[in-house]
Amino acid sequence: MQSQAARQAEWRIAADAHELAAMAAKLFTQLGREAIAARGHFTVAVAGGSTPERCYRLLAAATAKDATSHEALDWSKTDLFFGDERFVPRDDPRSNYRMVEESLLGAAAIDPRRVHPIPTELGSPEQCAATYSDTLAEFFGVSPPHSWSRFDLILLGLGDDGHTASLFPGAAALSVGDRIATTSPPGVLPPPVDRVTLTFPVLNAARHVIFLVAGANKAAAVEDIWRGCCTPNERPAIGVRPSHGALTWLVDEAAASQISIGHKLA
Ligand code: 6PG
Repeated sequence: MQSQAARQAEWRIAADAHELAAMAAKLFTQLGREAIAARGHFTVAVAGGSTPERCYRLLAAATAKDATSHEALDWSKTDLFFGDERFVPRDDPRSNYRMVEESLLGAAAIDPRRVHPIPTELGSPEQCAATYSDTLAEFFGVSPPHSWSRFDLILLGLGDDGHTASLFPGAAALSVGDRIATTSPPGVLPPPVDRVTLTFPVLNAARHVIFLVAGANKAAAVEDIWRGCCTPNERPAIGVRPSHGALTWLVDEAAASQISIGHKLA
């Protein structure tokens, strides 16, 4: 039985990881073009991990193909942020920034001044989180907890334990309600390094959140979230419900394998 919250989200099932990436790249571009048309610019926080990399490469390829086409995203009007980061140098193989740089930033015509990495070069995860919070508060002209950075799009992944960004089950970060970014100690999941993550209030302030999920190892978490039979403490991703925004789950067949077929929405 699908939960009411899941019914309020849009669920799209992709045949495989390739189709999933194509769906995500198309929706990412569509939302970016809509934001630029409506407000003159596009603010996006991208996901780390491995799943989104294929989508980023498609976005980069589209840009390289024909940057002037009416289909392409105008990266010159896009500000790119990060949903979370491992507390490692930017050139570390575990760095989300490095993955995004290699798969997208190298090819997208984005002004480096419009790319806003989480500053892991600073002395501690706490200092890094505080500085990122200040950067976003200034950029968006907000003052948490009274007002929150409102991204046009936040792209998120899902761990097989139901974590998202670096909001892990049972972590103190789940209850942070007064800061834009916070720290998250090494989880049990690889890589076991300190992390910095956007908090629930920021995720839930977004105009649009997209979850990008692939693989049979995610199926149990997807099912729990679909049925609503878990708490944010157990499966943090279920705590992402934009209060004045849209939520889209892009899931491949393998990750959706435990959802009863009758409920799948194409
Ligand atoms: C990270 C991500 C994390 C990721 C999930 C899924 O820093 O690892 O932000 O939340 O999205 O763990 O990772 P995969 O896409 O690699 O399965």
